[in-house]
Amino acid sequence: MSLRLFSLFATLLAHTLCAQDTPGLAVSFSAAGKTDSRVDRLLSLYVPGGQAPTPFLAAGAFTAKWEGDIQSPLRGIFKLGVETSGKFKLSLNGQPLLDGVGLKTVQLNKGANHLVAEITSAEKGDTFVRLNWASKDFPLEPVPPTILTHAVKPELTAASQLREGRLLFAQLNCAACHADAALLPAKGIGMPEFGQNAPLLADLGAKYKPAFLADWIADPHAIRPHTLMPKLFAGADTAQKAADLAAMLTQGAAPATEKPLDPKLASAGGGLFANLGCIACHQRPDATGADAHDRIPLGHVRDKWQAAALIEFLKDPAKNYPATRMPHFRLSDEESAQIATYLLINGMQIKRQAIAGDAARGATLLVSAGCLNCHAGMPATTQPALAKIIKAGEKGCLGADDKTRAAAPDFALSAPQRASLKAFLTTDLASLKQDTAAEFAERQIKNLNCIACHARDGNVSTWTKVDGEAKKLRDALPAKEHVEGEAVPDAPIPPLTWLGEKLQHEWMSKFIAGKIEYKPRTWLIGRMPGFPAHLASGIALGLNHQHGLPQKEADEPAPNAEKIALGEKLLGADGGFNCITCHAVGEQAATAVFEAPAINFVQTVERVRKGYFQRWVMAPIRIDPDTKMPKYADPEGLTQLTDPFDGKGAQQFEAIREYLRTVK
Ligand code: HEC
Ligand code: HEC
Ligand code: HEC
Ligand code: HEC
Ligand code: HEC
Repeated sequence: MSLRLFSLFATLLAHTLCAQDTPGLAVSFSAAGKTDSRVDRLLSLYVPGGQAPTPFLAAGAFTAKWEGDIQSPLRGIFKLGVETSGKFKLSLNGQPLLDGVGLKTVQLNKGANHLVAEITSAEKGDTFVRLNWASKDFPLEPVPPTILTHAVKPELTAASQLREGRLLFAQLNCAACHADAALLPAKGIGMPEFGQNAPLLADLGAKYKPAFLADWIADPHAIRPHTLMPKLFAGADTAQKAADLAAMLTQGAAPATEKPLDPKLASAGGGLFANLGCIACHQRPDATGADAHDRIPLGHVRDKWQAAALIEFLKDPAKNYPATRMPHFRLSDEESAQIATYLLINGMQIKRQAIAGDAARGATLLVSAGCLNCHAGMPATTQPALAKIIKAGEKGCLGADDKTRAAAPDFALSAPQRASLKAFLTTDLASLKQDTAAEFAERQIKNLNCIACHARDGNVSTWTKVDGEAKKLRDALPAKEHVEGEAVPDAPIPPLTWLGEKLQHEWMSKFIAGKIEYKPRTWLIGRMPGFPAHLASGIALGLNHQHGLPQKEADEPAPNAEKIALGEKLLGADGGFNCITCHAVGEQAATAVFEAPAINFVQTVERVRKGYFQRWVMAPIRIDPDTKMPKYADPEGLTQLTDPFDGKGAQQFEAIREYLRTVK
């Protein structure tokens, strides 16, 4: 059984065991007399001094209360402890256990153990908390998200509805047409999703086929479910208006010079589509019908794009659309041409009705229909003001059908989405003026679909789920013998679960933005794509905060000379652990890569946080059950090497890290 299939199986099993419980802990916050609730993955928190604990509360002093269950896999004796800067208390199964920092021994039942914990924010500076546990079988580690569950309560449902409404209001750009300077933040302030412009409508004639463009304008949701672009027209003249706009938008464009496609490139393109993970976010271009994984269809691409423009788009999807959700893969010209050929040759041929459009009428519509409010950030003038729509109820854009919507745009909102928007509009909207990094990361992980490629909290990725489909595309590639050391398509990708605890903020921000030049896992064909830089640093910060960690760790003193020497020895073959069989150190290649490929230690120093370095080397399988990295310490933390440090792993590994800090 392949590793991917095995983890799929393990996850299914885990899910059948506790199907009635919802993952994560319920947290309720209070500040300045108001309360708010949400679900957190872990019992940890990081709120910088002077910031609000959630977007719906005021900045300043707060309390938080967690409730839920620790689902212990076994009955047994555990140690529980907390690191915090606030006043913290925890009770387990109704008994008080922790009051402030320190480790306490406790018996956990097999299955649910009810937990209630409370914190009062630190009097000065940042408030953080991290709940850890240990047993005789494993060293101290954060209580993992896979065993935390909670019961859903009405206040949680209400709070998550407000969050959904807030996000829809921002992403669907309601304020582009329904403005109010007194109620809303200025662009670029507060919630990052608020006020993002839609794509620049430039060079459309050179990019797209005109008949397609008219169909898109007439009904974007019919082409791309979940698009943020509304349908602007509903009457019998919809097709004509759309044709007028298409004529205007493509006016004066030089006819595209189509180079004939070379069909021989298509199978290589299909291989890349599978191996780079396009297939995790997109349906294949030849797929028809609904998709069990709700991926974005590409069948229409043949009918939409001019070939040269598609090749350019794939290399830089954000060029005309900085807020795009489509990441960039640093494709070479060759790769981009291969993929474009694969998409164009395998796409659908669609009969479209070409109606002659009038560009002059289109120009008027472009302003009056509100296109430029979203697409160029033009100020709203003709639509009802925000204060009016707040009181309007289920009318206009919030109407359930064409009749109640009348002249208003159609965002294809579901009934729950309309209810969420309505609920959000009853608040004072002040939450748009601020944000919380931990929640931002959670929203963007969903919006940008990180879990298309990354497993997280015990759930497998979409990529793993569609492995059968990907395999077919790989099998169509010309047979080639594997050369030792060459990248492979099905090596595991790091799960997202612990990355907020693992990685340094600065490195992670750059990496998510696609701005790190090297590739840590040279043995993977897959590569991490780059996402918009203005979102990347917020995601990285939010992930750090979710694990109760600050953006930047305290500066470390210069490496200690004595430890450096010991560390170098401990890393090597002669009297050491021989880490270098798998890990390269700068220019010095790993001595036996076939053991298991690992990351060059030079990169590790700038990537990995100090605490995680220790935790990983102490017990790698506690973090990644499938890892091939050996375990060097027993549960007491002692290693096979009794010298130096009397065999104490923590100090030995720290010496290795001190040495690595000096390697360039
Ligand atoms: C492209 C501009 C545009 C955008 C974006 C937009 N609306 Fe509208 N909205 C309109 C127009 C036009 C009307 C209809 C005005 C009329 O009937 O005269 C309307 C009407 C409404 C009404 C009814 C107002 C009334 O007094 O009857 C509500 C409620 C509403 N919109 C909510 C929203 C929400 C929520 C969003 C975001 C999801 C949104 N709108 C986004 C243009 C827009
Ligand atoms: C993390 C998810 C994700 C991955 C991975 C991804 N895409 Fe996309 N892609 C999107 C989204 C979302 C859009 C829709 C545009 C937007 O939201 O800005 C899109 C749009 C596109 C479009 C334009 C479709 C149209 O209607 O014009 C093409 C073509 C495309 N992607 C190809 C690819 C290829 C090829 C790959 C792999 C190299 C890939 N995508 C990987 C999310 C993804
Ligand atoms: C509420 C904001 C909004 C309004 C109003 C709006 N659009 Fe859009 N439009 C978008 C967004 C957002 C996208 C990007 C597609 C996506 O997110 O799926 C888009 C995409 C497009 C595209 C494809 C652009 C590309 O290069 O991929 C065209 C063309 C377009 N819109 C034309 C129009 C026209 C014409 C109008 C007026 C009739 C209009 N839009 C009104 C938000 C809007
Ligand atoms: C198309 C698939 C794909 C998508 C989508 C994707 N990733 Fe990745 N990610 C990867 C691959 C492959 C790697 C390993 C790259 C390497 O080591 O060379 C990776 C590595 C990472 C790493 C570094 C982990 C480490 O230990 O080195 C971080 C952080 C990360 N991804 C975060 C994200 C976030 C956040 C998102 C969503 C915004 C995301 N990824 C979306 C494929 C993807
Ligand atoms: C049998 C091969 C092997 C040996 C020997 C080995 N490792 Fe690893 N190591 C790995 C693998 C595999 C990974 C995980 C790679 C990944 O994240 O995809 C890893 C990851 C790491 C990481 C995280 C690096 C990063 O940048 O993400 C550290 C730190 C580490 N190892 C330290 C050590 C130390 C210290 C030793 C010796 C005491 C050692 N390793 C010996 C295989 C090995």
